[in-house]
Parts: sequence; C-alpha cells; structure tokens
Amino acid sequence: MNKLRLGVNIDHVATVRQARGGTHPSPLRAAMLAAAAGADGITAHLREDRRHISDHDIAQLRQALHIPLNLEMAATDEMMTIALKYRPHACCIVPENRQERTTEGGIDAARQRTRLSPIVKVLVDAGIRVSMFVEPDRKQLDASKALGAPVVELHTGAYSEAHGADHQRLLEKVSKAAAYGASIGLEIHAGHGLTFENVKPIAAIPEIRELNIGHYLIGEAIFVGLESSVRRMRLLMDEARGVIEK
Ligand code: PXP
Repeated sequence: MNKLRLGVNIDHVATVRQARGGTHPSPLRAAMLAAAAGADGITAHLREDRRHISDHDIAQLRQALHIPLNLEMAATDEMMTIALKYRPHACCIVPENRQERTTEGGIDAARQRTRLSPIVKVLVDAGIRVSMFVEPDRKQLDASKALGAPVVELHTGAYSEAHGADHQRLLEKVSKAAAYGASIGLEIHAGHGLTFENVKPIAAIPEIRELNIGHYLIGEAIFVGLESSVRRMRLLMDEARGVIEK
C-alpha cells in the first residue's frame, strides 16, 4: 500500500503561547521538530478570531518551512486575501463558528455552493491545492467535486468519539466515503480527533493519502516530547499501511 502522509497540526502550540501572550512556545520551532520527526507537512488554522495561530506565524512558517504548509481557513474574503498573499502549498476550507472549541463538523459544500464556488476557483487558479473539510457523506463529496476542489478531507470526529458498534459503523462510513471519493477522482485526506488508539483503522483505508493530526500529538508531547509523539504516530500509521521503513 502507498505510504500515508502525516500532516502535523501545530495550532495548540500557539494555544499555549497565547495563554501568556508572549512568544514561547514557538509554533515554528514545533513545526521544524515535527518535520525532523517524520511529518510530511504542517497544518495551521488561522481562525478569524486569531485565538491561536497568528498572521505572523503563517508568514514565518511560509518563509522557514521546507515541507508543505496546509493553511486551514474559513471561506471568507479576508482569508482568501491572506492565502493569496502567502501562497501555501494547500488550503483546507473549514466551517467556522466563533462559539465552537474546535471545528465541530464538516463544511456543507452542497448547500453553500454559491458562496464557496468563487473562493475555491480563485485559490485553485492561484495554484493552491484546495481541500474541502467535509463529513464522510456522498452528497458532500459530489458537491466538493462540482466545486472543482481536487481534495477532500473527511471529518473523523464522529468516528473518534464513538464506542462499540457505533465505532465500527462510523469507520465503515469513512471507509465507504473514501472509496467513493477516490472513484470520482478526489484525493482523500482525513482528520480530527485521531489518537494513538484510534488511528490504525483509519490509516489502513487504502484510498486515504494524508492524515492531519494535532491536538492529541501536542497533548502527548507534554509527556514524551514532540519528537517522540510524532515518531510514534508515524510508526503506527506505517504499521497500519504495511510500510516498513528501512
Ligand atoms: N483537520 C482539520 C480540517 C481540522 O480543522 C483539525 C482541527 O483543527 C484537524 C484536522 C486536526 O484535529 P485534531 O486537532 O483533533 O487532531
């Protein structure tokens, strides 16, 4: 099976920094360490309220990173302007609700087509790889394809929180969505709520090409260090994939 890319989301390094408002810990330093530990890309979500990642972080990451940057953003004119200024490798379009603690669901690409269409087009035309963060649902995959996005990221939050029979049912939902999305020509990514305990079944889905993982890795880094946390996730993903690094 092909190797699965790991995108490390560093938002919560910035969350800790923002708790004091200074410069430590640095998301850029975390990104460099994650890259050295086997991350294939770095993901950062510039939220409209700037609660963690700042515009300056994006500028720094863009300047210093040697691996692809995936900018998560709401579909707004402000974020589109920022994306065009920094030209990250990829932009993942997410829904944003100021009250939420995290991105609680996928974007409704089917219902918001009129609003999303010009934004996706501008980013695609600028050479940025656009992905839509959607629920694992056929309707959303068809809508993402119709919008012209080459990539979808399947929201694994419901799977991650489920137990027992629900866990299996939601895993199958992600798996079926991945197969359907790939069959209509979309590149498939996935993420949200993934941990050492629940990553393997998702990593074993052959159509998925990339996982974006943040909160758990940064939390685990408190105990074992970021390098060790990223290395272990990388190893679990490779094991699930049957990839043995020489
Ligand atoms: N992918 C997307 C689009 C997200 O919005 C997030 C959360 O910021 C993640 C992946 C990572 O989720 P988690 O922090 O739960 O690993």
